[in-house]
Amino acid sequence: MGESRVRSERSFANSLNRRQLLRRGGIAGGAIALAGLAGHGSARATTEPDEATGTPEALTPIVSRSGADLSGQELNLYSSRHYDTDQEFYDDFTARSGVKINLIEADADQLIERIKSEGDAGPADVLLTVDAGRLWRAQDAGIFQPIKSDVLEQRVPSALRDPDGNWFGFSRRARVFAYAKDRVDPATLSTYEDLADPKWQGKILVRSSSNVYNQSLVGALIEALGLDGTQKWAEGLVANFARDPQGGDIDQITAVAAGEGDIAITNHYYYLRLLNSTDDAQRKAAEATALFFPNQGEGQRGTHVNISGGGVVRTAPHPDAAIAFLEYMVSDEAQELFGKGNYEYPVVEGIPLEASVQALGSFIADPIDVRVFGENNELALLLMLRAGWN
Ligand SMILES: [Fe+2]
Repeated sequence: MGESRVRSERSFANSLNRRQLLRRGGIAGGAIALAGLAGHGSARATTEPDEATGTPEALTPIVSRSGADLSGQELNLYSSRHYDTDQEFYDDFTARSGVKINLIEADADQLIERIKSEGDAGPADVLLTVDAGRLWRAQDAGIFQPIKSDVLEQRVPSALRDPDGNWFGFSRRARVFAYAKDRVDPATLSTYEDLADPKWQGKILVRSSSNVYNQSLVGALIEALGLDGTQKWAEGLVANFARDPQGGDIDQITAVAAGEGDIAITNHYYYLRLLNSTDDAQRKAAEATALFFPNQGEGQRGTHVNISGGGVVRTAPHPDAAIAFLEYMVSDEAQELFGKGNYEYPVVEGIPLEASVQALGSFIADPIDVRVFGENNELALLLMLRAGWN
């Protein structure tokens, strides 16, 4: 209850910002605002104090591409991003654009099914989800429409979006190892491939093959090692499992801390979430482990990096607001929020990293086109099941 009051107060503050903006004639500067979104390192809008009054400056307004005011419009946003902090994006977008967001949250496959069953008159404008494998699945189901946007094309690297504009990556996440500091010498860690070596027998913790993060990792391995090579790898990995797969990535890290195994495969932000937790037990679990970025050696391809992202639904009733929302997600402000809210990496170059993300240090990411994860998805899952990866 307290929380909904806070939320409505925040919305009220946002509407004040919006009105302040309109009073200042900010909307007339729409073209400039969009150019600002497109520019790298464009001026920060929200936090610099106004010289004349000492109050925060008005937010950079968001208008449609044709310069039309979007205020009063609605945006029906279907999201399977399971991070509470995402509300900040929505409030910020509403404050800048005047567009009211109606949020539907569910599991990605449920949302894809729902959009399909709602048909041509369906209300969905935008689908947000995590993992390129799922974005590809949504595209395969025919629920996106191709979007042509200079802002999105300039800001999102081409390996992190669909070439036809059906979907775009908005944040990056590395799939890494969390190892037991007291039992594993990091000098003995090297690659994903090496986790199949018998020296790790009984030591490896990873979640189920039904999880799309693992399917995408294996999809990338198929590209690097071929089908036979990846099949052999999966068999070796399964032989090294500390236990039958269970739980999510966080459960793998806490299992390492509890001594059930020595190396967990996890997305980097789950580790940072534990490390930054206000809960002592969670923080201690993270502190007993450290992250290792695999495949960094000379001539190696780099660490597996996936995306979260989204696209405009084919039947979107509010396409202008939908495109403005996607463009907002790659603005400097939103790109920084991915770090502040969920410890993710931005997709746009030159965005400052959140402090604990920065502290992980720099690494080489596998430059593979993330579409490959989707293309190899079915093969990856079959191969994992055949290897006994439940
Ligand atoms: Fe996640």
